[in-house]
Amino acid sequence: MIEGLRRKFISRFGKEPSLISFAPGRVNVIGEHTDYNGGFVLPAAIGKGTYVVLAPGEGKKIRVSSENIGRWEEWEAGQYPKRGSFGDYLRGVLLYSRAPAVGLDILLSSDLPIGGGLSSSASLEMAFALAVNEFFSLGRRMEELVEISHRAENEFVGVKCGIMDQFASALSREGHLLFLNTKNLSYNFVPFPGNLLLALVDTGIRRRLSSSQYNQRREECRRALQALRRLFPDLETLSDADEEMLLAARPYMDEVAYKRAVHVVSENQRVEALVEFLRSGDLCMVEKIMKLAHLSLSEDFEVSLPQIDRLVEKISSLPYVYGARLTGAGFGGYIIALLLRGKEKTFLSELSTRHVIFTLPRGSARIIYSRPG
Ligand code: GLA
Repeated sequence: MIEGLRRKFISRFGKEPSLISFAPGRVNVIGEHTDYNGGFVLPAAIGKGTYVVLAPGEGKKIRVSSENIGRWEEWEAGQYPKRGSFGDYLRGVLLYSRAPAVGLDILLSSDLPIGGGLSSSASLEMAFALAVNEFFSLGRRMEELVEISHRAENEFVGVKCGIMDQFASALSREGHLLFLNTKNLSYNFVPFPGNLLLALVDTGIRRRLSSSQYNQRREECRRALQALRRLFPDLETLSDADEEMLLAARPYMDEVAYKRAVHVVSENQRVEALVEFLRSGDLCMVEKIMKLAHLSLSEDFEVSLPQIDRLVEKISSLPYVYGARLTGAGFGGYIIALLLRGKEKTFLSELSTRHVIFTLPRGSARIIYSRPG
């Protein structure tokens, strides 16, 4: 891998790279649409991600070659033009990193499906933030790089996502799920059961949750919180509410806001329950919780589609699957299934036409090559 990237870089830029960083994509096991409501999430880094290969450039010129989308971009270091292109992610990271205005040559390469819901953008931001941090010896901690990447996406690119994707890419641990409280960013790790693996099934639907639909859900959650605050003025986030409070505040909410709030409050309980059942090895209950989580996403949060519901049901009914649900933002992308190890082939033949990624929880963003000397 490293040798292949090094060669490509030399053939593009005619020089040796100084360093190569990697940041993984993520899949969320449970805790959907809770990360912008101060709730719990349980993602894992996967075995695919983005590589950033970097060397000093000529003068103040920044040049980027993207392997996958076959594009080339150039701009002047210290300037941050917004172009609506992949370069915006990099310019956002450079801006919030307060990186010196120095020229760079950059090669990007990713084995993640772009825009498929496995956080290709967060992995690009994280890999680049890490590379910049290393190259300029900025000495920032991973948590700070998460914040920089998150700002790049929220404020520069303008997609108002929560913190989960960047956090999972930066701070995951091999063989574990990341149990993150998005309210105070405290986290710990839950060992992933040794007899299972993660199967990510492509729904084939690429109706990307456009930022308008995503932002609409955020707005509906905000309305619910506002209504709750009429009775509970000190409530900080939707995740601080419980069912009783929701019922009390129901008369002040429109029906849509109420359903969204029901999802968030119940989803937080499901994350905690799933963590407990994973720790105690009760896979039967794990399966039940996954089922309820999908139902809530479909009926209360309304980010699924009938054909996705059918596919989730089919996958869930397989005897060697311990739970399946739509993962990520919704309206397409991937279904996550907890699959018994050794059943990969049987699973594939059951879903003959589907593209499936099998992975275990992997480690997080890292520098994978640094030029000696
Ligand atoms: C997208 C966002 C995340 C999160 C999920 C839904 O992936 O980037 O921050 O909100 O949707 O759980």
